[in-house]
Amino acid sequence: MSMSDNTIIRLVEVRKSFAGNEVLKGVSLDVEAGKTTIIVGQSGQGKSVLLKHILGLVRPDAGQVIVDGVDVSRVKGKKLKEVRTKFGILFQGAALLDSLDVLENVALPLRQRTKLKDAEIRRRVIEKLQLVGMADQLDKYPAQLSGGMKKRVGLARALQLEPQIVLFDEPTTGLDPIKVKDMYKLFFETQKLLKYTAVIVSHDIPKIFNLSDMVAVMHDGIILAHCSYEDIQRSENDVVKALINDTMGSIYNSDQVEQ
Ligand SMILES: Nc1ncnc2c1ncn2[C@@H]1O[C@H](COP(=O)(O)OP(=O)(O)O)[C@@H](O)[C@H]1O
Ligand SMILES: [Mg+2]
Repeated sequence: MSMSDNTIIRLVEVRKSFAGNEVLKGVSLDVEAGKTTIIVGQSGQGKSVLLKHILGLVRPDAGQVIVDGVDVSRVKGKKLKEVRTKFGILFQGAALLDSLDVLENVALPLRQRTKLKDAEIRRRVIEKLQLVGMADQLDKYPAQLSGGMKKRVGLARALQLEPQIVLFDEPTTGLDPIKVKDMYKLFFETQKLLKYTAVIVSHDIPKIFNLSDMVAVMHDGIILAHCSYEDIQRSENDVVKALINDTMGSIYNSDQVEQ
């Protein structure tokens, strides 16, 4: 295994079974700080379970899950909470609270974790909403927003406390392909700007992933390949090839220009 000094998340031979069903069969992966890593794999391969291990929400049966030098599989209480403050998360549904407007949804982390005054909270909320192009929608309620807008607001909230690491679990679910591309562009843009470590879980490999730094392919409980987007395209592994064919199909195989 490479021992880059810049590793912020390190999974070492992580194993996890649920009621005799072994989901993680020895997952090893190093995630480099300040980079974008995509974890791709078919549905049911254990991608979400893996993210839960990184957050210390699920404990492995064996192996290590090291986040910024701390083995989250072995700490609890205050220490675990401290590790979790390093994360922003954006999961499938943007999980906005329907009863709160955009301003208050994005203000939530500040209200929960800080004692800032309203004016400062408003200032910080607007600052983050500007990053995602939603600063003019402060008074809107989630029901008044499109799917893409909700996800933008969800991103602003995930970034509110300027986390070191942001975990995205299938963050574009429910969006049409054009919107998917825009959304990933926005993720990559904000990542470049704020320099957080992005770990993005996806069941497909859209072309826009050429903007990512690393792609890890998860299959049958292990990480099959971990390399650049370009190298993934050249993989000789049958599973990786099939995944690329299934999810990129004729667009990848032809020289067609991206629409
Ligand atoms: N808490 C749990 N209890 C039992 N089985 C689980 C639990 N969480 C996940 N699983 C099982 O683990 C497998 C992988 O799930 P998941 O990580 O959600 O897949 P993916 O995110 O790759 O689609 C599935 O078979 C799922 O049913
Ligand atoms: Mg999942």
